[in-house]
Amino acid sequence: MKKKIALTGIKPTGIPHLGNYLGAIKPAIELTKNYDALYFIADYHAVNSIRDAKILREMIYEVAATWLACGLDPEKTVLYQQSAIPETFELSTFLMAFTPKGLMNRAHAYKAMVQKNTLNKKDVDDGVNIGLFTYPILMAADILQFDSDVVPVGGDQAQHLEMAIDIAQSINHNYGTELLKIPQPLIRKNTGIVTGLDGRKMSKSYDNTIPLFLPPKKLRKLIMKIVTNSQTIDEPKNPDECNVFALYKLFADENQISEMRQKYEAGGMGWGHAKQELFELINAHLSPYRDKYNELMQNKNYIDKILEDGSVRAREIVVQKMKFIRQNIGLFSK
Ligand code: TRP
Repeated sequence: MKKKIALTGIKPTGIPHLGNYLGAIKPAIELTKNYDALYFIADYHAVNSIRDAKILREMIYEVAATWLACGLDPEKTVLYQQSAIPETFELSTFLMAFTPKGLMNRAHAYKAMVQKNTLNKKDVDDGVNIGLFTYPILMAADILQFDSDVVPVGGDQAQHLEMAIDIAQSINHNYGTELLKIPQPLIRKNTGIVTGLDGRKMSKSYDNTIPLFLPPKKLRKLIMKIVTNSQTIDEPKNPDECNVFALYKLFADENQISEMRQKYEAGGMGWGHAKQELFELINAHLSPYRDKYNELMQNKNYIDKILEDGSVRAREIVVQKMKFIRQNIGLFSK
């Protein structure tokens, strides 16, 4: 039987951190075992915010190298670049004809801008470009062009998926046939949130992240900055209220976890020591990925080749789909 299709987009906007790795990258790579996966670099989405050609180019390499280093197998999973498939933008234009402006008015990202402008007594649309406004439509095209079955995303993208479904349904309704497959959202639960350096959720907006591929010395320095309480070495400590332990648990096996728990509860272990153990654990886990990442970043021609291959494979599917759509909406007879 043919496997179902999983599709997701990755915005090239900065080096991923441990939270991205555990929360998004690892589960998405797991999913490729059971699905025909198409994962792409959403570079035209990124142009809405990254307007420096050199920076964008570099970020595209960085995310591609990250996913490859973390275990994405480009033979099995199609890794492609959004901009390499012109038909996506054609489909997006078609979808626009069926997208009420009011639907886009309700999109979170746009609404947040309007609210901020109102608060600052500026024109409501100050700094809003049409690319931001129509962002959910391009995203719908990304999804619908492959007849995707599941779309794994974080909770912040749930509304965009609902919009894609709405648009597809109104098109199917209009033509009286299933022109577009209705995808299923696969929303990541917020369980297992990764703790950041300050104890809040690890997030770029809190500036509390641990980037994935720091050299060991820098990684160690950052881990030493994790916020702890002021208990002395001798005091017994509560692992369940500790930011160091919260991270330790994510990488350790059961034996390591229970040993560490005992060291906390027995007293006699200082924070410096706990952090050193955390560093060693994370470093051992990430070293092979870091080496692979650095090797890939030294070999950009290879990354180009992977993305080109993936884009050719992905485009073949989309070209067929667009042909089908054009015929069914009365544009071409053949
Ligand atoms: N909007 C997504 C994000 O910001 C990226 C994205 C673009 C995407 N197109 C997509 C995700 C299609 C899933 C499916 O993370």
